[in-house]
Amino acid sequence: MDITEKKPVTIISASILNSDLSDLRTTVRRVDTSGAEWLHFDVMDGNFVENITFGSSVLHAVKPYSGAFCDVHLMVELPQRQIDLFAEAGADNITFHIESKCDPDRMIEEIHSLGMRAGIAVKPETDISSVMPYIGKADMILVMTVEPGYGGQGFIPGTLSKIKAVRDAAPYIDIEVDGGINNMTAKLVKDAGANVLVAGTYLFRADDMHEAVEALRKA
Ligand code: DX5
Ligand code: ZN
Repeated sequence: MDITEKKPVTIISASILNSDLSDLRTTVRRVDTSGAEWLHFDVMDGNFVENITFGSSVLHAVKPYSGAFCDVHLMVELPQRQIDLFAEAGADNITFHIESKCDPDRMIEEIHSLGMRAGIAVKPETDISSVMPYIGKADMILVMTVEPGYGGQGFIPGTLSKIKAVRDAAPYIDIEVDGGINNMTAKLVKDAGANVLVAGTYLFRADDMHEAVEALRKA
């Protein structure tokens, strides 16, 4: 087999966290026409992080209006409780945090058994060695490039070495980055080995979201 066939392709995942939450139907349609392949859904419980956002019922409500792959990022203390709910709501991927209270092997198994992809996220301060045992089991590693909790924060350059460490260990795994991604930082994270780029503020502030998506893709 041609080895290049397995090389991860660039995927843009639009985070709706800082979009106009009063009009989510328009938001998800806008993402669909922008060329972004994934819709990134930030779930926060007020425990794992201070902020509280939205749960599976909101994904269920917008799912009929979106043709995008639904990329759920659980920033919750007890992610196991959310798997069935998000599967029923139409999630295509569930990413949970290695710092949350869960058995990662069991999480991956359950997510897979419901036909979804499984990702593991790691906060900026957490040692990257914590996720290494799950490479080969999880479909994706999410290297947080800001502290989870809020959109619109500045990219943390110290996270680049973590992306490189995962890419060196796993040439073909999907590596997602999340937080402070724009046309400048996209180049840095791609050079380090990331291929799934989450962007919220940069995309939703753009006059032309399609152009902004292409700028990230070509960075
Ligand atoms: C932060 C969230 C991110 C956030 C990214 O906790 O996980 O997905 O929405 O937003 P920007 O692109 O604004 O940094
Ligand atoms: Zn996120």
